[in-house]
This record gives sequence, C-alpha cells and structure tokens, in this order.
Amino acid sequence: MISFPKKRRSKDDVLGKMRVARDKDVKWKKGRAFGLIYHINEEIDALLQDAFLMFFSENGLNPTAFPSLRKFETEVISMSASLLGGDENVAGNMTSGGTESILCAVKTARDWARDHLPQAIEPEILLPRSGHPAFEKAAQYYGLKTVFVPVDDDLCADVDAMRAALTKNTILMVGSAPSYPHGVIDPIRELAAIAQEQGILFHTDSCVGGFMLPFVKKLGYAAPDFDFSVPGVTSISADLHKYAYAAKGASVVLYKSAELRRYQMFVSTDWSGGIYPSPTIAGTRPAGPIAAAWAILNYLGEEGYLEITEIVMDTAKKMQKGVNAIDGIKVLGEPEMSVFSIVSDDPAIEIYEVADELHERGWHLDRQHFPATLHMTVNYVHVDAADDFIADLAESVGAVRRPTLRKVASRWLIDVTDFLVRILPEKWVTWMMEKSSVLLGGGGGLPQRMAPMYGLIGTLPNRGDLKELVLDLLDGMTKEVQK
Ligand SMILES: Cc1ncc(COP(=O)(O)O)c(C=O)c1O
Repeated sequence: MISFPKKRRSKDDVLGKMRVARDKDVKWKKGRAFGLIYHINEEIDALLQDAFLMFFSENGLNPTAFPSLRKFETEVISMSASLLGGDENVAGNMTSGGTESILCAVKTARDWARDHLPQAIEPEILLPRSGHPAFEKAAQYYGLKTVFVPVDDDLCADVDAMRAALTKNTILMVGSAPSYPHGVIDPIRELAAIAQEQGILFHTDSCVGGFMLPFVKKLGYAAPDFDFSVPGVTSISADLHKYAYAAKGASVVLYKSAELRRYQMFVSTDWSGGIYPSPTIAGTRPAGPIAAAWAILNYLGEEGYLEITEIVMDTAKKMQKGVNAIDGIKVLGEPEMSVFSIVSDDPAIEIYEVADELHERGWHLDRQHFPATLHMTVNYVHVDAADDFIADLAESVGAVRRPTLRKVASRWLIDVTDFLVRILPEKWVTWMMEKSSVLLGGGGGLPQRMAPMYGLIGTLPNRGDLKELVLDLLDGMTKEVQK
C-alpha cells in the first residue's frame, strides 16, 4: 500500500516520475491507438490548451458567477443544434462525455414517461444490440429495463424486430448514427416514425458521428438522415471530444424542446446551503472542456471541419481498401464513415491472434465479439500512420497463419476449456478463468496475449461468471501496480 506522502517533493521530481510512468503508454501521437484519441496537430493542441488553461479554475456549476461559461455553453449548444438539424426550440446542455449525455437522456425519458405514459408501469428502453452500453448502464442506474433487439444481417437495427419488441412499457427507442462496433447507421427515419406513432421518445446516439456525419454528407457521401430533421427524433447525444477534436470531457445532449429538457434538471429547494439547481449529472463542472470546445468550433468552423473530414474519409477508405486486400480478413459490413471493424473470413486466421500480433508491433485495437472483430476508429491522428498500419496488419495476418507452438497451445487451451466449462461446476470455471489469465501473462491483470482469453470468453455459457471475472479485473485496476 502506498501511504499518503509525508514530505513535499520538487516539481521536477513529481513531473519526472509522471513522464517515466507515461513511457509505457501506447504511442498515440504516432497514430497507434484506435478509439481512444482524437487529435489533429500540435497547433490545434496549443489552441485547446490555451483555452482550457484560461478557464482552468472556473466552475461551470454556477453560471451566474461566470457569464463567460454561460455564453460558451449556450453557444456550443446552439452551434451543435444548428449542425444537427435543430431549430430555435432545441434545448440542451454540455456534459462530460457521451455516457453522461446518455445518462441525461435516459433519465429525462424516465421522468417524462411518468407524466405522459401512465401505462408504462415497468418502463423499458428498446436498444438495438449494437447500441452503446451507456444505455444499459443508465437503465441500471435508473431502475429501467433494457430490451435488447438483435440487429439485421447488415448489422443495423432491425426495424421489424424493433417494432415487434414494443410493449405498453416501452418509453424510449434508441438508434445509433453510427453504431460504435461496426460504424453503420441504424434506419433512424423508420425507427423514429414508429416511436412517433407510438407516442414514445426516440434518441439518436450520434456520440461518435455527430460532429463528423454532417460534414461527410456535405462532402457528397451518401448517408441516411439521423438528426432533428427526421420526424420523431426527440433527443440526440453528440460528443465534442470525439470528431469535433475538443479537449476530453465534452459532449452535448440536445432535446427537441425545452419542455422535454425540463425533465433532465434537478433542483433542491430546501437545502440549508440554499437553493441548489443542477442541470446535468455532475455537480462541479470543469470549465476547461467547455472553453476548449467553444474555442475549437470557432477556430475551425465548417470550413476547417470539412477539410479535416475529407482527409479523414480518404484515410479511412484507403485503410479499408488495404484491409480488404489482405487475404483472410476483411472490413465487416458497409460502414458509413471512418469507424469500422475487421473480421476474419478464413478459419486459419484467428482475429484475436492478429490483435496480439499488432499489439506486439505497438498498435492498440479493441477486440469485439459476436462476431469476433477488431475495432477501428480512424481520425486525423491516423493520417500518417495508415501505410504502416496496413503493412503491420499484413505481417500480423501472415504470422498468425503459421501454426506456431504458441498458437497450437492457445487453440488447445480454448478447446480443452470449452469442454471443461460445459462439465464443471460454475465455481471451478471462474477459478479456471482467473488462473488462465495469470498463466497467459496477466499477473492478476489483463494478459499480454489476449487471444486465448477472448476465445475462452466467447465459449463461456454462463455470462454471470464472466461478469464476476471482469469485476475482479476492474477491482485489480485500482490496486497498486507491482514493480
Ligand atoms: C456511439 C457511442 N455512444 C456513446 C459513447 C460513450 O461515450 P463516452 O466514452 O464519451 O462516454 C461512445 C463512445 O465511444 C459511442 O461510440
């Protein structure tokens, strides 16, 4: 255990230790991380940092003390609404990110339904299986039921299945533009029409696409409508810290009307500390992300975003072409923008093994399942990395194709485990999972080579075991790192 520091340390000492700690991080500036970092260049970073630091200490909790922040937030909301097909009736707030925006939208739906849908005794939200887990999280937090609806063959929400899943308890339907796992856009127009016909709310989750798709469309790419221009869409989430390239901690949640947004708000009137209003989930709200978001929207404007989007789309298309040219793997489905996934179409290529090979070459990609794919979020930071990535990907696929001892061993481990999880009691299975994580190099955390682990996870019949295992891993994440 690390005890609370007794003595002061010099600034150089403190910052030096932090620099050393950072050494093992993924080299994101070289475009080696997909999905975590959105970055343009040093010049834009300097602008964001200047804006952020100018409002480093201010607090967005009380806009009466900081009219500047009120101006920035109001203008960011208005600019976002105008980009996303909204009119002057649209109301919203800035939040800390996509998850908070979604938490706000789901809480709003719950409270709105209490007034408008008395038949919904046990409220449900209808979510295509590809919808972001933030909705499931929100439903858990707010005591709602999430009804998951399988997606169609094209990986988009299945309109008929969504309609069939409606009950008297349904209060909110969700569609993604695009979905995170595969980058496809759900049929928002059809889904929102059903919601409207039913008199329920409809949320478009454009956390990842909200500040990219409007420019993609303006550049002439065909993409379905997803925003407030679509009848029936009642709320939208769009993340500034993704394709608007703002500083982290910035998203917007927008509602069709201020009346609907009213259900999001919280006010305590009788607290001894005075009247306490709070529009979003957070109390104290850092001002830096609000200021930096305002700065970058004004700095780049439509002109700048169009230029960036064009380059990013060219890069994404080039990478998709590169993936499809490699024997044994391909891009899954027909992604609309720069988010896509890579799947193996050759039984000799285990895609998680490819991820392990890429990891050894310094690339960080998320592994997805159902089906097994690797996730790519291409943005400006990847422009100069695209060729290297495709070269390393081809090499990794080649390495995986060869039956190395490690590969045979991991395949054997998956098969044996697959057999054992079917015959052994649950307790033993969990124990086995923990041990295999250690054996594969995790030392109690995540293993270095994760393919066998993921293969194993896919075979587990009891998802409760898996949840427990992941919770254990999460517990471990905040334990002191072994030297
Ligand atoms: C479609 C979608 N919704 C919601 C989120 C959650 O956003 P955040 O990680 O900022 O909370 C993400 C994040 O990738 C996303 O892609």
